Amino acid sequence: MKKKNPGFATRAIHVGQEPDPSTGSVTVPIFATSTYVQEELGKHKGYEYARVSNPTRTRLEQNLATLESAASAHVFSSGMAAVTAVTQCFLKQGDHLICGHNVYGGVPRLFNQVLAQYGIEFSYVDTSDLDAMEKAMRWNTRIVWIETPTNPLMVLTDIKEVAKIAHTRKAELVVDNTFMSPYFQRPLELGADMVMHSTTKFLNGHSDGMGGVIAATKPHHAEKLAFIQKAAGAILSPFECWLVLRGVKSLEVRMIKHDQNGRAVADFLRKHKKVKEVLYPGFSDHPQHELARRQMSGFGSMITFETGSLNNAKKMLRKVRVCSLGESLGGVETLISHPATMTHAALGEEGRKQIGLTDGMVRISVGIEDADDLIADLDQALAAI
Ligand SMILES: Cc1ncc(COP(=O)(O)O)c(C=O)c1O
Repeated sequence: MKKKNPGFATRAIHVGQEPDPSTGSVTVPIFATSTYVQEELGKHKGYEYARVSNPTRTRLEQNLATLESAASAHVFSSGMAAVTAVTQCFLKQGDHLICGHNVYGGVPRLFNQVLAQYGIEFSYVDTSDLDAMEKAMRWNTRIVWIETPTNPLMVLTDIKEVAKIAHTRKAELVVDNTFMSPYFQRPLELGADMVMHSTTKFLNGHSDGMGGVIAATKPHHAEKLAFIQKAAGAILSPFECWLVLRGVKSLEVRMIKHDQNGRAVADFLRKHKKVKEVLYPGFSDHPQHELARRQMSGFGSMITFETGSLNNAKKMLRKVRVCSLGESLGGVETLISHPATMTHAALGEEGRKQIGLTDGMVRISVGIEDADDLIADLDQALAAI
Protein backbone atom coordinates (compact mmCIF):
# COMPACT_ATOMS: atom_id res chain seq x y z
CA MET A 1 0.00 0.00 0.00
CA LYS A 2 1.28 3.49 -0.89
CA LYS A 3 2.37 5.40 2.22
CA LYS A 4 -0.14 8.15 2.91
CA ASN A 5 0.96 11.48 4.40
CA PRO A 6 -0.37 11.94 7.94
CA GLY A 7 -3.69 13.81 8.11
CA PHE A 8 -4.28 17.26 9.63
CA ALA A 9 -5.26 16.10 13.13
CA THR A 10 -2.32 13.67 13.31
CA ARG A 11 0.10 16.41 12.30
CA ALA A 12 -1.47 18.85 14.79
CA ILE A 13 -1.00 16.36 17.62
CA HIS A 14 2.38 14.89 16.68
CA VAL A 15 4.56 17.20 14.57
CA GLY A 16 6.86 19.09 16.91
CA GLN A 17 4.92 17.45 19.74
CA GLU A 18 7.08 14.32 20.00
CA PRO A 19 7.74 13.12 23.59
CA ASP A 20 10.70 14.81 25.25
CA PRO A 21 13.77 12.61 24.59
CA SER A 22 15.42 13.28 27.96
CA THR A 23 12.43 12.30 30.18
CA GLY A 24 9.69 10.74 28.02
CA SER A 25 7.33 13.58 28.96
CA VAL A 26 4.36 13.26 26.58
CA THR A 27 3.88 17.02 26.39
CA VAL A 28 6.64 19.33 25.18
CA PRO A 29 8.35 20.86 28.23
CA ILE A 30 8.26 24.61 28.84
CA PHE A 31 11.94 25.50 28.61
CA ALA A 32 11.95 28.39 31.07
CA THR A 33 15.49 29.53 30.52
CA SER A 34 17.18 32.65 29.24
CA THR A 35 20.47 30.99 28.30
CA TYR A 36 22.14 27.61 27.69
CA VAL A 37 25.38 26.27 29.10
CA GLN A 38 28.15 25.71 26.54
CA GLU A 39 30.70 22.87 26.79
CA GLU A 40 33.48 25.05 25.48
CA LEU A 41 33.76 28.11 23.25
CA GLY A 42 31.56 27.54 20.20
CA LYS A 43 30.44 24.06 21.34
CA HIS A 44 26.75 23.85 22.29
CA LYS A 45 23.53 21.99 21.48
CA GLY A 46 22.23 24.54 18.95
CA TYR A 47 20.82 26.93 21.55
CA GLU A 48 22.80 29.93 22.82
CA TYR A 49 20.40 32.64 24.05
CA ALA A 50 16.61 32.49 24.38
CA ARG A 51 15.77 35.60 22.34
CA VAL A 52 17.39 33.81 19.39
CA SER A 53 15.89 30.39 19.99
CA ASN A 54 14.16 28.26 22.58
CA PRO A 55 13.28 24.55 22.26
CA THR A 56 9.57 25.07 23.14
CA ARG A 57 9.41 27.74 20.45
CA THR A 58 11.22 25.52 17.91
CA ARG A 59 8.62 22.79 18.48
CA LEU A 60 5.72 25.20 18.00
CA GLU A 61 7.28 26.63 14.83
CA GLN A 62 7.70 23.10 13.41
CA ASN A 63 4.08 22.34 14.22
CA LEU A 64 2.59 25.50 12.71
CA ALA A 65 4.73 25.18 9.56
CA THR A 66 3.27 21.74 8.84
CA LEU A 67 -0.31 22.89 9.50
CA GLU A 68 0.01 25.70 6.94
CA SER A 69 2.02 23.58 4.42
CA ALA A 70 4.84 26.09 4.89
CA ALA A 71 8.61 25.76 4.65
CA SER A 72 9.04 27.58 7.97
CA ALA A 73 7.07 29.35 10.70
CA HIS A 74 8.17 32.13 13.06
CA VAL A 75 6.25 33.11 16.16
CA PHE A 76 5.99 36.56 17.72
CA SER A 77 4.58 38.08 20.89
CA SER A 78 1.22 39.03 19.32
CA GLY A 79 -0.50 39.06 15.95
CA MET A 80 0.46 42.72 15.56
CA ALA A 81 4.11 41.92 16.36
CA ALA A 82 3.96 39.36 13.51
CA VAL A 83 2.54 42.01 11.12
CA THR A 84 5.30 44.40 12.22
CA ALA A 85 7.95 41.73 11.61
CA VAL A 86 6.82 41.27 8.00
CA THR A 87 7.08 44.99 7.34
CA GLN A 88 10.51 45.17 9.04
CA CYS A 89 11.80 42.25 6.98
CA PHE A 90 10.38 42.99 3.55
CA LEU A 91 9.75 46.75 3.22
CA LYS A 92 12.09 49.71 3.08
CA GLN A 93 11.71 53.43 2.48
CA GLY A 94 10.03 54.11 -0.88
CA ASP A 95 8.27 50.73 -1.06
CA HIS A 96 4.52 50.39 -1.48
CA LEU A 97 2.08 47.98 0.17
CA ILE A 98 -1.48 47.29 -0.97
CA CYS A 99 -3.79 46.42 1.89
CA GLY A 100 -7.35 45.14 1.74
CA HIS A 101 -9.69 47.99 2.71
CA ASN A 102 -11.56 46.21 5.46
CA VAL A 103 -9.01 44.26 7.42
CA TYR A 104 -8.61 44.14 11.22
CA GLY A 105 -8.48 47.81 12.31
CA GLY A 106 -5.12 47.46 14.09
CA VAL A 107 -3.37 46.73 10.78
CA PRO A 108 -4.12 50.07 9.05
CA ARG A 109 -3.46 51.79 12.40
CA LEU A 110 0.07 50.35 12.37
CA PHE A 111 0.56 51.20 8.70
CA ASN A 112 -0.81 54.78 8.84
CA GLN A 113 0.24 55.93 12.27
CA VAL A 114 3.62 54.22 12.60
CA LEU A 115 5.10 52.95 9.34
CA ALA A 116 4.02 55.82 7.07
CA GLN A 117 6.49 57.95 9.07
CA TYR A 118 9.33 55.84 7.65
CA GLY A 119 8.53 56.67 4.02
CA ILE A 120 6.57 53.52 3.21
CA GLU A 121 3.47 54.02 1.05
CA PHE A 122 0.13 52.31 1.64
CA SER A 123 -2.98 51.97 -0.54
CA TYR A 124 -6.27 50.54 0.65
CA VAL A 125 -8.16 48.61 -1.98
CA ASP A 126 -11.23 46.40 -2.22
CA THR A 127 -9.21 43.27 -2.99
CA SER A 128 -12.39 41.32 -3.76
CA ASP A 129 -12.47 43.46 -6.96
CA LEU A 130 -9.68 42.04 -9.13
CA ASP A 131 -9.71 45.01 -11.55
CA ALA A 132 -9.30 47.47 -8.70
CA MET A 133 -6.55 45.30 -7.32
CA GLU A 134 -4.70 45.22 -10.65
CA LYS A 135 -5.04 49.01 -11.09
CA ALA A 136 -3.63 49.63 -7.62
CA MET A 137 -0.37 47.79 -8.38
CA ARG A 138 2.61 50.14 -8.79
CA TRP A 139 6.22 49.66 -9.89
CA ASN A 140 7.26 49.80 -6.21
CA THR A 141 4.55 47.49 -4.78
CA ARG A 142 6.36 44.88 -2.71
CA ILE A 143 3.57 43.37 -0.64
CA VAL A 144 -0.14 42.73 -1.08
CA TRP A 145 -1.79 42.21 2.32
CA ILE A 146 -5.21 40.59 2.45
CA GLU A 147 -7.57 39.14 4.98
CA THR A 148 -10.24 36.72 3.74
CA PRO A 149 -12.98 36.63 4.85
CA THR A 150 -12.68 40.20 6.09
CA ASN A 151 -13.25 41.41 9.60
CA PRO A 152 -16.12 42.09 10.23
CA LEU A 153 -17.88 42.35 6.84
CA MET A 154 -17.19 38.78 5.71
CA VAL A 155 -16.09 39.74 2.20
CA LEU A 156 -13.87 37.20 0.44
CA THR A 157 -10.86 37.75 -1.78
CA ASP A 158 -9.86 35.19 -4.40
CA ILE A 159 -6.44 34.14 -3.11
CA LYS A 160 -5.37 32.34 -6.30
CA GLU A 161 -6.20 35.29 -8.57
CA VAL A 162 -4.70 37.94 -6.30
CA ALA A 163 -1.50 35.86 -6.00
CA LYS A 164 -1.24 35.85 -9.81
CA ILE A 165 -1.66 39.64 -10.00
CA ALA A 166 0.93 40.20 -7.26
CA HIS A 167 3.41 37.82 -8.86
CA THR A 168 3.25 39.35 -12.35
CA ARG A 169 4.70 42.51 -10.71
CA LYS A 170 7.12 40.61 -8.45
CA ALA A 171 5.23 41.52 -5.29
CA GLU A 172 4.49 38.96 -2.55
CA LEU A 173 1.08 38.05 -1.22
CA VAL A 174 0.55 37.79 2.54
CA VAL A 175 -2.77 36.40 3.80
CA ASP A 176 -4.08 36.95 7.32
CA ASN A 177 -5.68 33.53 7.87
CA THR A 178 -6.78 34.16 11.46
CA PHE A 179 -10.54 33.80 10.84
CA MET A 180 -10.39 30.44 9.08
CA SER A 181 -7.38 28.74 10.69
CA PRO A 182 -5.32 26.31 8.58
CA TYR A 183 -8.05 23.72 9.13
CA PHE A 184 -10.48 25.51 6.79
CA GLN A 185 -8.19 27.52 4.50
CA ARG A 186 -4.62 26.98 3.28
CA PRO A 187 -3.49 30.11 1.40
CA LEU A 188 0.02 28.84 0.62
CA GLU A 189 -1.48 25.96 -1.37
CA LEU A 190 -3.38 28.58 -3.39
CA GLY A 191 -0.27 30.59 -4.29
CA ALA A 192 0.23 33.00 -1.36
CA ASP A 193 3.84 33.61 -0.26
CA MET A 194 3.26 34.04 3.47
CA VAL A 195 0.43 33.46 5.94
CA MET A 196 -0.09 35.41 9.13
CA HIS A 197 -2.19 34.46 12.16
CA SER A 198 -3.02 36.04 15.42
CA THR A 199 -2.46 32.79 17.39
CA THR A 200 -4.40 34.58 20.14
CA LYS A 201 -7.52 33.36 18.30
CA PHE A 202 -8.38 29.86 16.95
CA LEU A 203 -4.85 28.38 17.10
CA ASN A 204 -4.62 28.89 20.84
CA GLY A 205 -8.40 28.54 21.07
CA HIS A 206 -8.79 29.08 24.82
CA SER A 207 -8.52 32.88 25.14
CA ASP A 208 -5.58 32.54 27.51
CA GLY A 209 -2.58 33.88 25.61
CA MET A 210 -1.45 36.34 22.97
CA GLY A 211 0.71 35.45 19.98
CA GLY A 212 1.31 35.74 16.26
CA VAL A 213 2.91 33.64 13.54
CA ILE A 214 4.22 34.08 10.03
CA ALA A 215 4.30 30.88 7.98
CA ALA A 216 6.52 31.32 4.95
CA THR A 217 7.53 29.55 1.77
CA LYS A 218 11.05 30.64 0.75
CA PRO A 219 14.52 30.31 2.30
CA HIS A 220 15.05 34.10 2.28
CA HIS A 221 11.78 34.55 4.25
CA ALA A 222 13.02 32.13 6.92
CA GLU A 223 16.40 33.82 7.10
CA LYS A 224 14.95 37.33 7.47
CA LEU A 225 12.17 36.38 9.90
CA ALA A 226 14.60 34.48 12.16
CA PHE A 227 16.94 37.46 12.00
CA ILE A 228 14.18 39.90 13.00
CA GLN A 229 13.24 37.68 15.97
CA LYS A 230 16.83 38.05 17.15
CA ALA A 231 17.32 41.69 16.13
CA ALA A 232 13.99 43.21 17.21
CA GLY A 233 13.15 40.68 19.93
CA ALA A 234 9.32 40.54 19.82
CA ILE A 235 9.40 36.77 20.42
CA LEU A 236 6.74 34.53 21.94
CA SER A 237 7.52 33.35 25.49
CA PRO A 238 8.03 29.60 26.10
CA PHE A 239 4.87 29.46 28.24
CA GLU A 240 2.73 31.05 25.53
CA CYS A 241 4.33 28.77 22.91
CA TRP A 242 3.28 25.85 25.11
CA LEU A 243 -0.30 27.16 25.34
CA VAL A 244 -0.52 27.19 21.54
CA LEU A 245 1.04 23.69 21.31
CA ARG A 246 -1.66 22.56 23.74
CA GLY A 247 -4.38 24.44 21.81
CA VAL A 248 -3.59 23.12 18.32
CA LYS A 249 -3.96 19.51 19.48
CA SER A 250 -7.74 20.04 19.47
CA LEU A 251 -7.86 22.46 16.52
CA GLU A 252 -9.61 20.05 14.17
CA VAL A 253 -12.38 19.02 16.60
CA ARG A 254 -12.87 22.60 17.73
CA MET A 255 -13.14 23.91 14.16
CA ILE A 256 -15.68 21.24 13.24
CA LYS A 257 -17.85 22.24 16.22
CA HIS A 258 -17.30 25.99 15.62
CA ASP A 259 -18.52 25.43 12.06
CA GLN A 260 -21.60 23.40 13.12
CA ASN A 261 -22.57 25.99 15.74
CA GLY A 262 -21.84 28.81 13.27
CA ARG A 263 -24.32 27.36 10.77
CA ALA A 264 -27.00 26.94 13.46
CA VAL A 265 -26.57 30.48 14.83
CA ALA A 266 -26.45 32.06 11.34
CA ASP A 267 -29.70 30.28 10.39
CA PHE A 268 -31.37 31.40 13.62
CA LEU A 269 -30.29 35.04 13.18
CA ARG A 270 -31.44 35.11 9.58
CA LYS A 271 -34.96 34.06 10.57
CA HIS A 272 -35.19 36.51 13.50
CA LYS A 273 -37.50 39.46 12.82
CA LYS A 274 -35.33 41.97 14.74
CA VAL A 275 -32.23 41.15 12.64
CA LYS A 276 -32.03 43.18 9.43
CA GLU A 277 -29.15 41.37 7.70
CA VAL A 278 -26.71 38.55 8.40
CA LEU A 279 -23.24 38.47 6.81
CA TYR A 280 -22.09 34.86 6.61
CA PRO A 281 -20.36 33.16 3.62
CA GLY A 282 -22.09 29.85 4.38
CA PHE A 283 -25.43 31.13 3.01
CA SER A 284 -26.00 29.92 -0.54
CA ASP A 285 -27.05 33.46 -1.53
CA HIS A 286 -23.95 35.14 -0.05
CA PRO A 287 -22.52 36.95 -3.13
CA GLN A 288 -19.28 34.98 -2.85
CA HIS A 289 -20.62 31.64 -1.71
CA GLU A 290 -19.11 29.83 -4.71
CA LEU A 291 -15.66 31.27 -3.97
CA ALA A 292 -16.09 30.33 -0.30
CA ARG A 293 -16.78 26.72 -1.29
CA ARG A 294 -13.77 26.71 -3.62
CA GLN A 295 -11.10 28.14 -1.32
CA MET A 296 -12.37 27.15 2.12
CA SER A 297 -13.37 23.73 3.40
CA GLY A 298 -15.80 25.13 6.00
CA PHE A 299 -17.39 28.48 6.81
CA GLY A 300 -15.99 28.98 10.30
CA SER A 301 -17.88 30.70 13.07
CA MET A 302 -17.56 34.41 12.42
CA ILE A 303 -20.91 36.07 11.74
CA THR A 304 -21.84 39.75 11.55
CA PHE A 305 -25.43 40.93 11.82
CA GLU A 306 -27.28 44.22 11.60
CA THR A 307 -29.41 45.33 14.54
CA GLY A 308 -30.44 48.64 12.89
CA SER A 309 -28.76 51.22 15.17
CA LEU A 310 -26.14 51.83 17.83
CA ASN A 311 -28.93 51.99 20.38
CA ASN A 312 -30.32 48.59 19.35
CA ALA A 313 -26.83 47.06 19.45
CA LYS A 314 -26.30 48.51 22.94
CA LYS A 315 -29.65 47.21 24.20
CA MET A 316 -29.06 43.65 23.02
CA LEU A 317 -25.39 43.49 24.08
CA ARG A 318 -26.36 44.55 27.60
CA LYS A 319 -28.58 41.46 27.87
CA VAL A 320 -26.33 38.62 26.68
CA ARG A 321 -25.54 36.03 29.36
CA VAL A 322 -24.02 32.90 27.73
CA CYS A 323 -22.27 34.95 25.05
CA SER A 324 -19.54 37.17 26.54
CA LEU A 325 -19.33 40.78 25.44
CA GLY A 326 -15.68 41.34 24.60
CA GLU A 327 -13.10 41.94 21.90
CA SER A 328 -11.26 39.00 20.34
CA LEU A 329 -12.52 35.81 18.73
CA GLY A 330 -11.68 32.18 18.18
CA GLY A 331 -11.98 30.96 21.77
CA VAL A 332 -14.09 28.02 22.95
CA GLU A 333 -16.47 30.54 24.51
CA THR A 334 -18.78 32.64 22.34
CA LEU A 335 -17.56 36.22 22.15
CA ILE A 336 -19.80 39.00 20.92
CA SER A 337 -18.58 42.47 20.03
CA HIS A 338 -19.46 45.82 18.51
CA PRO A 339 -16.92 46.53 15.74
CA ALA A 340 -17.70 50.27 15.36
CA THR A 341 -16.75 51.08 18.97
CA MET A 342 -14.32 48.22 19.62
CA THR A 343 -12.10 46.55 16.97
CA HIS A 344 -12.72 49.19 14.26
CA ALA A 345 -12.89 52.37 16.37
CA ALA A 346 -9.45 53.38 15.04
CA LEU A 347 -10.84 53.65 11.48
CA GLY A 348 -12.91 56.70 12.46
CA GLU A 349 -16.48 57.38 11.36
CA GLU A 350 -15.52 58.26 7.77
CA GLY A 351 -13.30 55.18 7.38
CA ARG A 352 -16.08 52.90 8.64
CA LYS A 353 -18.61 54.55 6.33
CA GLN A 354 -16.35 53.98 3.32
CA ILE A 355 -16.29 50.22 3.86
CA GLY A 356 -19.95 49.92 4.87
CA LEU A 357 -19.43 49.18 8.56
CA THR A 358 -22.45 50.55 10.41
CA ASP A 359 -23.07 51.43 14.07
CA GLY A 360 -25.78 48.76 14.28
CA MET A 361 -23.48 45.86 13.34
CA VAL A 362 -22.68 43.20 15.90
CA ARG A 363 -20.01 40.55 15.35
CA ILE A 364 -20.18 37.15 16.92
CA SER A 365 -17.43 34.56 17.24
CA VAL A 366 -19.51 31.46 17.85
CA GLY A 367 -17.91 29.19 20.43
CA ILE A 368 -18.30 25.47 21.04
CA GLU A 369 -20.98 25.55 23.75
CA ASP A 370 -24.34 23.85 23.08
CA ALA A 371 -25.89 25.60 20.08
CA ASP A 372 -29.36 25.56 21.71
CA ASP A 373 -28.07 27.55 24.68
CA LEU A 374 -26.42 30.13 22.41
CA ILE A 375 -29.58 30.51 20.36
CA ALA A 376 -31.76 30.88 23.48
CA ASP A 377 -29.36 33.52 24.82
CA LEU A 378 -29.36 35.52 21.57
CA ASP A 379 -33.15 35.23 21.36
CA GLN A 380 -33.69 36.71 24.85
CA ALA A 381 -31.09 39.44 24.18
CA LEU A 382 -32.71 40.42 20.86
CA ALA A 383 -36.05 40.76 22.69
CA ALA A 384 -34.57 43.90 24.31
CA ILE A 385 -34.60 45.76 20.96
C1 LIG B 1 -7.89 39.12 11.83
C2 LIG B 1 -6.93 39.65 12.86
N1 LIG B 1 -5.65 39.83 12.52
C3 LIG B 1 -4.75 40.32 13.42
C4 LIG B 1 -5.12 40.63 14.71
C5 LIG B 1 -4.08 41.17 15.69
O1 LIG B 1 -3.70 40.14 16.56
P1 LIG B 1 -3.27 40.35 18.11
O2 LIG B 1 -4.45 40.91 18.81
O3 LIG B 1 -2.87 38.97 18.54
O4 LIG B 1 -2.12 41.30 18.10
C6 LIG B 1 -6.44 40.44 15.10
C7 LIG B 1 -6.87 40.79 16.47
O5 LIG B 1 -8.03 40.86 16.78
C8 LIG B 1 -7.37 39.94 14.15
O6 LIG B 1 -8.67 39.75 14.47
